[in-house]
Amino acid sequence: MRISLFAASAMLCIVGGLFAQVNAKAILGVDLGSLYMKVALVQRGAPLEIVTNLHSKRKTEQMVLFDQGTRFYGADANGLLARKPTKTPVAMTVVLGRDDEHPTVKVLTERHYPLTPKYNATRFGSYFVVDGKDEYTPEELTAMLLNHAEEITVAYGKEKGHILGEIRDCVLTVPSFATQAERRALMDAAKLGNFNVLSLIDENTASALNFGMDKVYEEPQIILFYNLGASSLQVSVIKFHSYEMKEGKLSKKTKTVGSIEVLGKAWDSTLGGLAFDNRLVEYLADHFNAEWNKARGHDKDVRTIPRAMTKLRIQANKVKHVLSANAEIPVHMDSLHDDMSLSLHITRAKFEELCEDLMDRAVAPVHAAIKSAGLELKDITAIEMIGGGMRVPKVRAGLSAALDDKELGMHINSDESMALGASFFGANISTAFRVRHVGLTDINPFPIAVSLAELEAKEPKEGEEVWSKEATIFATNGKTGVKKSIAFTHDQDLHCALDYADADTLPEGSSSELQRYKVTGVAAFAKEMEEKGLGKPKVTLQFELTHSGITELVKAEAAVVETYTVEEEVEVEDEEEGDDKKEEAEAEAKEEETTDEDKSNETKTEEEEPKKKKTKLVEKIFGIRSKKPAFWTPKEKKRTIKKTLDVESYYVGKIRPLTEELMAESKAKLDYLNQKDKERIELEEAKNRVESYIYKIKNKLIDDEENIAKVSTEEQREELRKLSADGEDWLYDDGYNADLKTMEAKFAELSEPAEKVWFRVAEMSDRPAAVKEMTKKLEKVEELMMKWKDSMPQITDEEKADVTDKVTAVRTWLSEKEAEQEKLASHEDPAFTSAEVPVQTKSLERLISKLMKKPKPKPVKEEKNETATEGSNETKAENAEEKDGEDKDAEASSTQEEVKEEEEKKDEEEKKEEETTKEDGYAAETGDEL
Ligand SMILES: *[C@@H]1O[C@H](CO)[C@@H](O)[C@H](O)[C@H]1NC(C)=O
Ligand SMILES: *[C@@H]1O[C@H](CO)[C@@H](O)[C@H](O)[C@H]1NC(C)=O
Ligand SMILES: *[C@@H]1O[C@H](CO)[C@@H](O)[C@H](O)[C@H]1NC(C)=O
Ligand SMILES: *[C@@H]1O[C@H](CO)[C@@H](O)[C@H](O)[C@H]1NC(C)=O
Ligand SMILES: *[C@@H]1O[C@H](CO)[C@@H](O)[C@H](O)[C@H]1NC(C)=O
Repeated sequence: MRISLFAASAMLCIVGGLFAQVNAKAILGVDLGSLYMKVALVQRGAPLEIVTNLHSKRKTEQMVLFDQGTRFYGADANGLLARKPTKTPVAMTVVLGRDDEHPTVKVLTERHYPLTPKYNATRFGSYFVVDGKDEYTPEELTAMLLNHAEEITVAYGKEKGHILGEIRDCVLTVPSFATQAERRALMDAAKLGNFNVLSLIDENTASALNFGMDKVYEEPQIILFYNLGASSLQVSVIKFHSYEMKEGKLSKKTKTVGSIEVLGKAWDSTLGGLAFDNRLVEYLADHFNAEWNKARGHDKDVRTIPRAMTKLRIQANKVKHVLSANAEIPVHMDSLHDDMSLSLHITRAKFEELCEDLMDRAVAPVHAAIKSAGLELKDITAIEMIGGGMRVPKVRAGLSAALDDKELGMHINSDESMALGASFFGANISTAFRVRHVGLTDINPFPIAVSLAELEAKEPKEGEEVWSKEATIFATNGKTGVKKSIAFTHDQDLHCALDYADADTLPEGSSSELQRYKVTGVAAFAKEMEEKGLGKPKVTLQFELTHSGITELVKAEAAVVETYTVEEEVEVEDEEEGDDKKEEAEAEAKEEETTDEDKSNETKTEEEEPKKKKTKLVEKIFGIRSKKPAFWTPKEKKRTIKKTLDVESYYVGKIRPLTEELMAESKAKLDYLNQKDKERIELEEAKNRVESYIYKIKNKLIDDEENIAKVSTEEQREELRKLSADGEDWLYDDGYNADLKTMEAKFAELSEPAEKVWFRVAEMSDRPAAVKEMTKKLEKVEELMMKWKDSMPQITDEEKADVTDKVTAVRTWLSEKEAEQEKLASHEDPAFTSAEVPVQTKSLERLISKLMKKPKPKPVKEEKNETATEGSNETKAENAEEKDGEDKDAEASSTQEEVKEEEEKKDEEEKKEEETTKEDGYAAETGDEL
C-alpha cells in the first residue's frame, strides 16, 4: 500500500534555505507534557533531533524547585522533590489559562500535590505559593521551563560542536481540547521567556506529522491515534493520503506528495496515567493509615503529610510500571512517616480492580473520535498508540476488544514524536528552512460564534427591535488557518463578541468567552455619507482562526458604493487599441491591490477615472493619434468609498491573558531571578578559582621546588605556604558565605605574590632566550646591510646610517638592562622581562622592511616603441614590468630573516583565506539535502 518509504535521513530534508546563512536561526519544538518536557531541535544542515538534557536524558521532568534563591530543574529538582515538596511546583502547564475551580486543576488537590494553585481576582489568573511565601503564576513557571529548554539546547549544541543560531523561534504542543484561554496563557508564558511562538500545534497532530512526514500512501489510510498521556487521553482520527503537485511554479512536471488531514478528535481531559497512579496512592495511604493508627492508637490521615504523600506518589508510579510486566510486587517503604514503614504485596489483579472504572473511560473517546470524524469503526485502517499510559496491559486489552481486535501499532516513539513533529511544523513555517512538502490540515473541535450589538444601546423606537446579529463563523471540526468575513449594512458603532458557540462541547470547567471588541468609526462614516446623499455603509468584519487555534477579528471596514454620471468621451477604437487596453487593465488591477492593502484610516475612494490619462500618455509617447474623432455621452459609473474602522479589544471572564502591566511585572520578576542566578554562578566560579589557586600554590611549591628555590627566599616561600593554608581555613569559615567582591579580593591576595614567584621562575629561561633571539636578529641586519651595496643600490647612505643608529640603540638598551639585572638578586623583581625584548627591535624591523620594498630606478625600455606600434595595451606592459621588479626584489631578500614580518603577514592572509574557504566548504556541505 505504501508506495514509497524513503530512508529516514533523506526524508528529514531540512535544508539551509537561501537566507539561512545570514539568518541561521534554530527552531525548537517543545512538548510540555504534564510530567515531562521534551525538546526537539531544527537547525541548518542537521536532521531533526531530540535535545538531550544536562543529564544526557531525552526528557526532562516538568518541575522547578526553589531552594534558598536557587532554582533547580529536571532531575536535579526531582532528586530533591521528596524532601522539599512544598518548594517544588509541578505540572504548571496544567494550570495555564485555568482557574482554581477547573476540574483538571482540582485533580491536583485530589492527587495530594502539596502545591495547588489559588486564584487572584486582580490578575484574573491563578498562582502557586511556593515555600509558603513566594507567588509564581503558571505563566512565570512555564517561562522558566522554556528558558531551561533553551539552556539545555545551548549546552547540547556546545557539546555537539554545533554552531547554533539564535534560539528564539519555537512551536509548542497543546492538547486537542485546549481552549483559547489556555492557548493564550501558553503563548504569554513563551513571550515571558523571550520566545517567539511560530505556532502552537495539537499534540496528536504533531505526532501524526512526525509519523507521516516520510511516507507517501497510494491508498488513503485512516489511522486512529490513541494518546494516553500522564494527565489526559486524546484520540484523533487522521487521514494519510497523497496528491500530485507541480514541482515548481513554472515546472510542468509533477511529484507525489504526502498529505495529512485530521478528521476527528475526542478526549477525556482528566484521564491519564496519573489517574491510575492515584488509585494506587489512595490504596497505599489507606493501608498505611490502618497500621499507623492501630500502632499509635490515634486517628490520623497520612494524606495531610506532604512529604509522605510525595513519596507515595513516586512509589505508586513505580508499582504501576512493574505491574505492567509482573503479576505481583512487594512494596516496602522504610519509615514513610512517624518512624513507621509501609510494607505490603500488590497484585496486578488488585490494581486492575482499583482501576476498573478507568478502564471503561479509556475506551469511550475512541468511539467519540470516530463519530466526530463522521466515520465508522470499519473505516479505520490502523491504530497507533502514543503516550506513556498504554503500558497498562488491561487498557490495551480493553482497547483491542473495542477496536475489533485490530492491531495496536507502536510505530512511533511516543515520548518524542510530538516534539519532533512540532519542530518540523516550525521549520515548514519559517522562511529560514526549506523542508519536504507535506500537506497538513488540522481542525478546530469547538464551534465559534460572533455576536454583534450596538455599542451604545439605544431605546428601540416603537415597533423596532434592538439591533443584534449572531452567527457561527467557524463550525465544529472546521479547518484551522482560515479567514472568514461577515458583511452587513449598518450605520452605528458596534460591539462584537467572540464566543465558543456550544459550551457543551467544551471540557468541563472551561469558559466559553473568547474576546470582545468595540468597533468604532461606523457612525461617523455613515453620517458623512448621508450628508453626501449616499446610502448606509456596508460593514465587513474579517475573522481569522489561526493554526494555533486562536480566533481574532483581524479586519474591520465600512464601505459605500456611489453611483454617479459623467459625460464621457467615447472613442471609436482602432484595432491597435488592443495593447493599450491590456495596459489599462493591468493598471486597474494594481490599483485595487494597493487600496486593498492600505490600512490607513483615511476614507478611500476607488473609481475608474485615472486610467484615461495613461492612454493619453501612451499616445503622446508614440506620437500617434490612433483614434478617430470622439463624441460625448452621459455614462453611469460606480465607485466604492472605503473606511478602515477602529477596533479596541478586551477580555472578560475569570481567566484573562496577561495585560501589558502584568507582563512587565512578571518579566521583572524573572529578570530578577535570572540576575540572581547569574550572580550566584559568578560567585561559584570565583570560589572555585580561589580554591584551586590554593591547591596550585601548595602543589607548585613541591613540584617545582628546585626552580622556585633559585628565585625566592625562604621567607618568600614561607609567605606563600601561609597564604595557602590561611586561605583554605578562610574558605570553610568566613569565606563560606562571602560575596563576589570579597571572593575576588581573596583571589588577588593569594595570586599576586605567588604569580611574581612563578614569573621569575619562567623568566629564568625566557629572558636569556629572548636576548639570544634579539642578538641573532641584529647580526642578520648587519649581514644584510653588507649585501645592500650590490643588490640594493637604491638605498641611500642616509638610510643605511639610520639603520645603524637603530641597531646601536637596541644594543645600548640591552647592555644597560643587563647591567641593571646583574646588580639584582634572583629573588627580586627583574630589571627587564622577556616580553620587553622583542619590542626593542620593532622600529628597526619596520625600517628594514620598508627599505626592502624600495623600488629600483627604472631602466628605460627600448621595446616600448615596438609594443606600442604593435597596438598592444600600454598599461599591461607597465604592469608586467612592475611585477618583474617585485619578483626580483623578493628573490634578493628571500634568504633574509628580515622579510619574515612580511611573510608572516602573508601567511596570515593565506590562513584567513583558508578559513574562508573552510567556511564556504561548510556552507556547501550543509547546503546539501540531508
Ligand atoms: C494579586 O495580583 C496583584 C497583581 O499582580 C498583586 O499585586 C497582588 O498582591 C495579588 N494578590 C494576591 C492575594 O496574591
Ligand atoms: C507547509 O506549508 C505549506 C505552505 O504553507 C502548507 O501547504 C503545508 O500544509 C504545510 N505543511 C506542514 C506539514 O505544516
Ligand atoms: C486613525 O485615526 C485616529 C484618529 O483620527 C488616529 O489616532 C489613528 O492613529 C489613526 N490610525 C491609523 C492607522 O492611521
Ligand atoms: C619611438 O621611436 C621614434 C622613432 O622611431 C622616436 O622618435 C620616439 O621618440 C620613440 N618614442 C619613445 C617613447 O621612445
Ligand atoms: C588596455 O586594456 C584594457 C583592458 O584590456 C582596456 O580597458 C584599455 O582601454 C586599454 N588601453 C589602451 C590604451 O588600449
